[in-house]
Amino acid sequence: MSFSTNSAVAQHYTIQRRHGTPTTTLLLSVASSAALPTSQKGFRRGAMFTREEKEVKPKLVFNWRAQAGEHAPGSAFEMAEKVGKQLFQTIPGSGPPPAVKRTYKVTVVGVGNVGMACAQTILTQDLCDELALVDVVEEKLKGEMLDLQHAAAFLPGSKIMADTDYKVTEGSDLCIVTAGARQREGESRLALVEKNVTLFKNIIPQLVKYSPDTTLLIISNPVDALTYVAYKLSGLPPNRVIGSGTNLDSSRFRWLLADHLHVNAQNVHGYIVGEHGDSSVPLWSSVSVGGVPFLAFLKHKQIEYTIDTLTELHKMVVDGAYEVIKLKGYTSWAIGYSVASLVKSLLRDQRRIHPVSVCAQGFHGIEDEVYLSLPAEIGRTGIIGVLDNPLTDDERAQLQKSAKTLTEVQKQLDIY
Ligand SMILES: NC(=O)c1ccc[n+]([C@@H]2O[C@H](COP(=O)([O-])OP(=O)(O)OC[C@H]3O[C@@H](n4cnc5c(N)ncnc54)[C@H](O)[C@@H]3O)[C@@H](O)[C@H]2O)c1
Repeated sequence: MSFSTNSAVAQHYTIQRRHGTPTTTLLLSVASSAALPTSQKGFRRGAMFTREEKEVKPKLVFNWRAQAGEHAPGSAFEMAEKVGKQLFQTIPGSGPPPAVKRTYKVTVVGVGNVGMACAQTILTQDLCDELALVDVVEEKLKGEMLDLQHAAAFLPGSKIMADTDYKVTEGSDLCIVTAGARQREGESRLALVEKNVTLFKNIIPQLVKYSPDTTLLIISNPVDALTYVAYKLSGLPPNRVIGSGTNLDSSRFRWLLADHLHVNAQNVHGYIVGEHGDSSVPLWSSVSVGGVPFLAFLKHKQIEYTIDTLTELHKMVVDGAYEVIKLKGYTSWAIGYSVASLVKSLLRDQRRIHPVSVCAQGFHGIEDEVYLSLPAEIGRTGIIGVLDNPLTDDERAQLQKSAKTLTEVQKQLDIY
């Protein structure tokens, strides 16, 4: 076996040390990182246990120790420790690392299709230093954790941990909630609400208990109602409770237009707002292609179109999820990429504008404390501000109708 870099050695070591039984491979690979001087223990990503890990001791992560006969004289573990101590030497005069935190921890609750698509895109895009996974199905959770850890040599290098106990999530900068029942073929998102509210009553308080400074990103459906529920249950300020909302719908919208116009979707700007679902509203008045206002361009060029054509395009957006669910049983990749793009804006303070589910009270004549999607600037503090884009009378009326639909759902939830 050969290793090209120290980090590859360390990653491999981490996997073996946590989960493997003592084998020759274990002995060889442990050697490299077990040698870290005590002063550096807890600070090298992927090489040693962090202080947090030592305190947390999630059972999935620590099973390997007992298996390896950690304290047995002459055990593979003990030998590896000895060999390893020769490999890395502290530079004379080394001090402790700076107190300022420079790493990011992300939690994903629910390791189903959506949770794992989120985890996978976050890892491949190197958006966090530590990833904690939580689910109620222990075997599946452990399997997903191991499967991701086994890709260590091909990933940028985040530490991956998992447990059914929320202590594993401690100190998360961002908690993404994907847990819950998903839509069946033909089932609306709103029909899921009761099942998932019950789950949220357990999940949200636990997340906030272990990460009081976290931002919550809600994905489970119906996402608008559940973002409201998460806001109420968490006690966090509204800028730090965000629903993925119509970020995905807007991507579908932009892709459909781009596909019709034979142009890259990143050059098509346009938002779907309101409910992530059937009552969503396309903001045609602000669609632009390469900076050119779309409707004004059609008019200027005297290109004929009817409202029906535009309505049909929007219907394709709304039906998009149903179509994928009918074909493959669930949606996963697009929501995974949509979430990664939100994570990037949040953790890297990118201040990009995304249509996400926020408290819409006071915007566009909406009086209720209702969660729905509006284009918002997103950065490290969560929602920095909601874009006050002018709507046509028709768009405003449609948005208010969507708000009414969602307010009715919220009222049935018995959450205040
Ligand atoms: N917002 C969006 O744009 C969007 C897009 C796609 C799917 N979704 C929603 O995401 C959710 C997940 O969909 P999926 O396809 O991954 O479903 P799934 O059934 O594949 O996965 C759900 C996971 O949640 C876990 N879970 C259930 N109860 C839990 C609890 N109390 N604590 C922790 N984990 C728990 C399950 O064990 C399972 O692993 C659904 O509500 C779905 O409708 C949202």
